[in-house]
Amino acid sequence: QPKAFLFDLDGVIVDTAHFHYQAWRRLANEKLGFDISEEFNESLKGVSRTESLDRILAHGNVALNPAEKEALATLKNDWYVELINKMTPDDILPGINEFLAKTRLAGIKIGLGSVSKNAKPILERIGILNAFDAIIDGTKITKGKPDPEVFLKGAEELGASPDQCVVFEDAVAGIEAGRRAGMKTVGIGQPDILTEADVVLANLNNLTIEDLQKALHF
Ligand code: BG6
Ligand code: MG
Repeated sequence: QPKAFLFDLDGVIVDTAHFHYQAWRRLANEKLGFDISEEFNESLKGVSRTESLDRILAHGNVALNPAEKEALATLKNDWYVELINKMTPDDILPGINEFLAKTRLAGIKIGLGSVSKNAKPILERIGILNAFDAIIDGTKITKGKPDPEVFLKGAEELGASPDQCVVFEDAVAGIEAGRRAGMKTVGIGQPDILTEADVVLANLNNLTIEDLQKALHF
């Protein structure tokens, strides 16, 4: 029986992965003079703000000094915050509220494992901050995904060992982080992208704890 479920935020609980892409793309278009594709954006998912900018700059062959990078990262975040400030509880992805309720009913702990520094304000905006027994976000970690730090901290705070944890992730880097933490992983998205996940689902709609445990061989 699993003891804790650790959920990524962006792209799992809310569709903010799309807002991150929109804001980075605007930065590349307006400030750097090139475009970034949706395919390239897959490699940014789950990656920290500063590392994302470094990857974008390398992608476009642009070299900047630390002060210039800082200014661009701030501008991207300002645009991103504008987008998330319009969110409401209606933006919670299909099946999430029901699945969190089933998880709680089954006596399984609920943790957030996100590298985003905007995680708490987002959870507040969509009204589900109280659903979590532990919140590990970008303000509590030193290494972004695919480093396992964020999930190991979550497990520790929930009093679970890694083999009692299940990670829910939409990012390739996030699935790798979960695996490196020694946890079972559920990919939310496309099987051809999330090839390393133990199970891949389009979303959590109608998923029962029983079926999930079976699929993960708990
Ligand atoms: C992750 C997203 O959850 O958080 C990344 O998948 C994002 O795209 C990262 O870069 C950091 O987020 P923030 O809000 O701190 O810039
Ligand atoms: Mg994500």
